[in-house]
Amino acid sequence: MGPWPNDPLGPQARSAADIYWIMFVAAVIVLVIVDGGLVYAGLKFRDRPGHVAKQFHGHNVLELLWTVIPTFMVISFSVLSFQKLTVMNDMSNPGMVMNVQGQQWSWTFSYPQEDRFKLIDNTYLSVGEELHIPVNTKVLLKLSSKDVIHSFWVPNIGGKKDAVPGRPTEIWIQADKPGTYRGQCFEFCGTGHADMLITLVAHAQNDYSTWAAEAVKEANRLRDPNTQKGRELFLSLPCVGCHTVKGTQAAGKVGPELTYVASKKSIAGGLLSPVNEENLTRWIKNPPAVKPGTLMPNLGLSDDQIHDIVQWLLTLKCAQNQPKCP
Ligand code: CUA
Repeated sequence: MGPWPNDPLGPQARSAADIYWIMFVAAVIVLVIVDGGLVYAGLKFRDRPGHVAKQFHGHNVLELLWTVIPTFMVISFSVLSFQKLTVMNDMSNPGMVMNVQGQQWSWTFSYPQEDRFKLIDNTYLSVGEELHIPVNTKVLLKLSSKDVIHSFWVPNIGGKKDAVPGRPTEIWIQADKPGTYRGQCFEFCGTGHADMLITLVAHAQNDYSTWAAEAVKEANRLRDPNTQKGRELFLSLPCVGCHTVKGTQAAGKVGPELTYVASKKSIAGGLLSPVNEENLTRWIKNPPAVKPGTLMPNLGLSDDQIHDIVQWLLTLKCAQNQPKCP
């Protein structure tokens, strides 16, 4: 990655960068010629004692030149833009098709309905936070929005497309080489807009199925039939707006991440330890009573509901030797 924030690392971004640089260089040349001529003429022909300006009217060659050259430039730019836009808007023959939904304030990436993405509950892999694609593959993203207008943008990979409620849009992306690319929602969508990030991970072709198998395994852990009630309740409550549980649609950034909450040493900012059924129950039942001033509200859940949610949270454990454990 170079010094430019929009260093193109995929064909989509390269198309935009090509147009940008060609027009930029042309604009600089025009600037130098026009402003240079202006300054030169101003100095050479300025009014001064003993100097009488040459009196003439019209100059056919000059007038022809400054009509023909700009016309030619404008036509060339139009043709060039049309060519590049044709490439950028060409949604045909994708190697992979995914659904991408924006909501305040996260993205949900849904993988194709293929066996390699199939989960134990017969749904298909659909996660927030990270978008994983294979390199050198044209990936078509079908964009939608749950609430307001968002915009999908990963500068190095290129393109930028709005996700509009009720109006499907599409964009294709492709990465040249494996790596992690940062992206950002590009349409102001509320107070969490700045945190509506995109992490695009491109895998080498032969690593992609390994990643997919891991992701499916991880997602299946979160779909244990024994904890279904609590999980579905949690995902339907405002909890998801603040907390992230990797592998689910919960991708909030306000509160602590709960992906491996059961492996943590404490909750409530260290007030409640260890993380067991009793402490989780006490916390969820009435957070402000445990920690005055906490941003976590009392949701007024019933004891049964709290029990179900706690049973699910207790399964959010980190496997041994797993990286990134709390
Ligand atoms: Cu979503 Cu800004």
